[in-house]
Formats: sequence, C-alpha cells, structure tokens
Amino acid sequence: MLNTKERAPTERVNGCRLSAIGLAAALVVIGTGAVDAQALRPGYNRDVIYQVFVDRFFDGSTANNYASDPLFDSTGTNLQKYLGGDFQGLQAKIPYLKNMGVTAIWVTSPLDNRNLLALAGSTAPYHGYEMRDTERPDEHFTDAAQSWTPFDNFVTTAHSNGIKVIVDFAPNHSNVRGSGDNGTLNKNGVFQANYTTNPANFFQTGPNMGGAQWDSPYETQYYTIYDLSDLNQTNATVDNLLKLSVQNLQTHGVDGFRIDATKHVNWGWQYTLANHIYTNKKSFIFGEWVADDSGNPLYGDLLKFTNKSGIAELNFPLFTTINSVFGQGGSFTALDGVINQQQTDFAYQNDLVNFVDNHDRKRFLTVDTSAQDQQHLHAALAFVLTARGIPCIYYGTEQYLQGGDDPDNRRKMPAFNETTTAFNLIKKLSTLRGANEALAYGSTQQRWINANTYIFERKFYNSVVVVAINKANASQAVSGLVTSLPIGTYSDYLTGLVSGQSLVSSTAVAGGFQAASLTLPANSISVWQTDPSTSSAQLGNVTPTHAQPGVKVSITGQGFGAATGSVKFGTTVATITSWSDQEIIATVPAVTQGTYAVTVTRSGSGTASNAFNFNVYQAKLVPVTFTINNAAPTNPGDNIYLTGNTIELGNWSTNKAVAVGAMLTTPTTYPNWWLTVGVPAGKSIEFKFIRIKADGTVTWEAGANHVVTTPASGVGNVNVTWQY
Ligand code: NOJ
Ligand code: NOJ
Ligand code: CA
Repeated sequence: MLNTKERAPTERVNGCRLSAIGLAAALVVIGTGAVDAQALRPGYNRDVIYQVFVDRFFDGSTANNYASDPLFDSTGTNLQKYLGGDFQGLQAKIPYLKNMGVTAIWVTSPLDNRNLLALAGSTAPYHGYEMRDTERPDEHFTDAAQSWTPFDNFVTTAHSNGIKVIVDFAPNHSNVRGSGDNGTLNKNGVFQANYTTNPANFFQTGPNMGGAQWDSPYETQYYTIYDLSDLNQTNATVDNLLKLSVQNLQTHGVDGFRIDATKHVNWGWQYTLANHIYTNKKSFIFGEWVADDSGNPLYGDLLKFTNKSGIAELNFPLFTTINSVFGQGGSFTALDGVINQQQTDFAYQNDLVNFVDNHDRKRFLTVDTSAQDQQHLHAALAFVLTARGIPCIYYGTEQYLQGGDDPDNRRKMPAFNETTTAFNLIKKLSTLRGANEALAYGSTQQRWINANTYIFERKFYNSVVVVAINKANASQAVSGLVTSLPIGTYSDYLTGLVSGQSLVSSTAVAGGFQAASLTLPANSISVWQTDPSTSSAQLGNVTPTHAQPGVKVSITGQGFGAATGSVKFGTTVATITSWSDQEIIATVPAVTQGTYAVTVTRSGSGTASNAFNFNVYQAKLVPVTFTINNAAPTNPGDNIYLTGNTIELGNWSTNKAVAVGAMLTTPTTYPNWWLTVGVPAGKSIEFKFIRIKADGTVTWEAGANHVVTTPASGVGNVNVTWQY
C-alpha cells in the first residue's frame, strides 16, 4: 500500500506545482526568482551531501580560463593549477546531481584566493584554502569582474532542484606567508592587512607545526599550518571580518558551512561563529577535526567541541575504520565497535557527517588493491548512506575515480555516466533517506555479525530499515536473525542492484521478529524497510542544539500533521514561523538560560511528542579571553578550568566535560592560564576558576565569585588573579 510518504515526489518552484517537464522548463529561467524552500528536504538529516571541487568538476565558461595567468594550466593536466571548472559548470550539471539523489552540495570556497604564485612553489589555490578577500568571489570560478552572479545562479538552480548549498569556509588563515600575496586579506577589494603589516596582531606569527604539536591544544590552535598566515580570531577586526564573511555568504543563499581545520581555529571563538551563523539564518554547520580514532590525544577535546559548539564534525574516526574494514579486509566487529562507542561519546550522533574518502585522503579504489575493489566500494557507500549520521560522497566516486595522495585525489571529473551501479545505489538510498525516518533519526543496532557480514537495523518508532552487507567472496548463510520488521515478506529495496535478497519475517520473539533463514550472496547488499504513516508527533532532531531566545530553529521528525499545533520549550510555548508534517520552524522563547525539553503537540491533540533537550543561551555569544594569573599550582596532568553561573560557563559544574576548559598555559606564562570562551553578550556574569587534578580532585579558588559585564558586541578580555 502506498502511504502518503511514498507518493511520487512533486516539486514546487515559486509556488507552482510542476511536473518533471514543467520543472525542466521552469529551470530555463534562472536568476532572480524567490527560492522555494519547500523543494528542499526537511532539516539536514535526510540529506545526501556531495562534495565538489569546483575547479575539477565541469568547465561551464571559457571566459574565466585566463590563458596568460600563471595559476592556470591551459593543457588541463597540471593538478596543481586551475583547470577551468566553475560555478557555471556546476550549475550545468545539477540535473546529473539531482538524478543521483544529491540533496546538498558542499562546494570549495567561492571566495577570492591568492592571485600570485608563491615563490616557494608553483601551486595555485584551486582548492580555495587560501582566502584573499572575505566578501568577493574568485575570478576563476565566476567571471573577470568577480561578480556574484554565476554563484547566485548556481544557488538558485540548486535550490529549485531540491539541493542545498554548503560552502567550505576556512577561518583559520588567509594565504601563504612570506611570498605570493604574503597573507593579504581584503574586504570586498579593500585592503585590510598582510603578514608584514600585521596590525594589532591581526595574524598569529607562530612557527609551522610539526610532530606532536598537531595534537597539543596550545600549538594546534596558535601555531601555523603549512605557512598559511594564521588569523587571530580574537583581534576585533578579524572577528568582525570573518563574521561578516559568513553573513555575506548567507545573503547569497548558502544553507550550510563546512568549517575547515576546526582543530586549528581558536576553539572558543568557533562557538561564537556558529552562534552568529544560526542567529542570522537557518543553517547546518559541520567541521573538519582530524582524529583517526578514540586513542587520539585530543579525542576528548573533539567530543566536547562537537557536543557543545554547535558545529557537527566530519566523522574521521569512523572514516578510518570504514577505510580499513571495507578497503583493506578488516573485520566488521571493528566497525560495529566504533558505532557503539560513538553512541556513547557523541551527544548528536545523527549530525555526524560520514564519508568513505575525501580530498585529503587517497580515494577508496586506490586504497583497496583487491580485485573486488568496486564491490567493496559499493558496500562502503551503502554503509555510509544508511549508517547513523549524514552521508557525504566525494565527487567522482560514482564514476569509480581513482587517486592517491593530494593532488592526485583531486583529478578532473572523468564522466557523467548515469548508469553506473554506484550512481544508482546512491540514487536509491537517497530516496530511502528522504522517505524513511529511521535513516535520518533512528537508533542503530547490530543484528547479525561476523568478520565479513554485517546486518544492522535503524529504527525510529515504527519506521525501520535493516541493511545486510556481505563483503566476503563467498555466500553467507544467516539463521537466527531477529529484527524489528513485523511479520511479512520484505523485498530488497535495491531491487537486486547489488544481489540483494528478500527477507521473510516469520515469528514474533523476544526483542522483535525472527526471520526465516536466508543466504546472502557473495559481495551483496540487501536493504529491507517498513515506513508506516503515523498520526502522532515523533520528534527526530532540532537544529541548532544551542541558541538564545529569538533564534529560529528547525524541528524535524514525522507525524507533526499539516495543521499548526504547538511547540514548547519546557512549559513555554514557542512562536511558529512554519509548520509541516516533517519540519517546523519555531523561535526560541524568552526563557531563562538552561536546558529545556522541546516537545511538539499536534493540532487538536493533548499528547506531546518525545522530548529533545535544547540548550538556551542567555544571549548571543561574544568571544572573551579569560586570563587567570597565579593559579593554584599544578603537576603534569592537572588543569585549570573556568565555571560560572550560565549555561555558557557550565552552570557551576566541576565536571571536565561541562566546565569550560581545560585552559591553556605555556612554560612562559605558567602559572598564568588563559582561554577564549563564547559568553553571552552584554550580561553580568559570575565565575570562578577551579583546578581539576589528574586524579579528578577539584579545588575551588577561595573568596567571592568574580563578576564582570561582558561586551555587548565585538571581543573582550578579562584578567583576574586566583584568590587564595
Ligand atoms: C584541511 C583541508 O581539508 C585541506 O585540504 C587544506 O589544505 C587544509 N585544511 C588547510 O586549509
Ligand atoms: C561553589 C563554590 O564552592 C564556591 O566557591 C562558588 O563561589 C559557588 N559554587 C558558586 O556561587
Ligand atoms: Ca572556466
């Protein structure tokens, strides 16, 4: 039976319902029309993200291929130079992406990058990680006049095809120091600073990092990566430039941000960046924090940052395991172990962004040297498309693009073939992500496992998806399988695309329903699902998870009903901006700071949904750098933390995961410690410093609480001495 959620998708463009043919016709008119958000999937958890190197994807305009530009390679072969791709080309290929089921595109930065060759090498910043202007686009991706029109046209076309736009944003640095443009940063063409002028410590001039410094909290935030002029985000001008930069991108229709190198950007400042983005406009933000596994020295810092900053992260620990399990013959028990650990470690697991490879890693097919590499790729793709979290597919994967280390992993898009198995696998599982909430919001549970066979279940209320992957070269008999799929026969959702089988769920048993024995063919993927319609409100997620009163949040799930009901934060009713069965936009009400249970009640119903714990800040965040002089003595492993009277300051918690810190010190500042913290703007706050010893013993500083009034905007500094 076809329920409402399985109806063939229709599209809305500027308020009109259109058939596929009508839609194609409408797309010929590009540019000025208002964007109809209804065409986009509700929230972010149902999305399939596609990561694109704009320069390498498709050349849509030769007018921006500058033959005499030493940064451009007209032979199209030097992977360290611009090769001609642009937003005109990406726009032209949106039908291809739409056909594959892509619902969000992460593009390399559109911002103007370094113009000059750096003396030390002949590379061009085709990757966008060498910002030169915070508000003007790059001429290689747009036009010689550096107008925003090509980018705007791309965004409009993406939106009207149900595709969100996520841009890469690198607030850590401008461009390479000491040569080339020497770190020059402009604001819409107006010079602000370069590495030599360095007004008011605009840049941090630390040495390049090496060795263990990559995993040391002080050096990783304050030193330099690859000679890229390191921006000091606590300089008031830099803070303002970067925040205006993201705001400007939002006015060009950007729906989300991938923040580059979050491990290297002042951690506390990034809470204020995220809050600034969410305050301006609905968004989704995820960052890059490289940590191969939970044994990384900064793993605890990664968890705290991901759980509290408002920035979800690319799931590097899971990536490492996907790479070894699917690509190098590892055991599924390792993969299941990471899934279980992350369930405990991360507060917002459904927001983690999962991937099988990216622009900084060898491509999957190059890692996997076996004869079955493509089958293994299909299995890895099926896993990220159905595992807890949001899948992100690196461009060209669906065309079986190979590539070793940078820049070989950034080759030109080889073809736009819509018949590959990978293309169709992504397409089908994207449809399922759009339809079945188990993938977006569900729990995850292993149901049957050995080294080469993994059967796992995703479940959100009565919406269930079960995935069975056999990556062995031999078939696997499965008996004793128990799932939550009610009694019945389930055909393979992939209709045999990767040798999937049917499942017969036959007997009710403890913990679910027992399936009849089945055999999974060699290198097969089977997907079984049920998605009954519901008339009760089932709350899946809230984005963002932290914000002050007045900020609009997206509340997603299913069964909210068509008619406007009510949303409460605790007992306080929120104002509703829009309401649909799967997404509500509501405003954080004027409640006191703290954690509130958000619930949804359908129109005419007396029953509230399940709750989502939302953190209400006291006010918009501003970055304030706290220094505590002459703090209590510490031995290696002991640390100083800050705690205080608001949720931003940990509400007097002495738990390391909740109090602010650990603070930073160096041999030259010790026993003085400092840390930049996102605090509510324009408020009187009370706080104290505590020492938490390696063994967990907590020592409070004596005396009265410190009291300061935070700046209403901009940046601030607080300097106090430990009270003995
Ligand atoms: C990480 C990016 O992903 C990488 O490609 C880039 O070179 C560095 N950050 C510096 O921006
Ligand atoms: C308990 C601490 O012992 C004290 O020093 C601190 O001032 C209060 N928490 C917060 O008011
Ligand atoms: Ca071009």
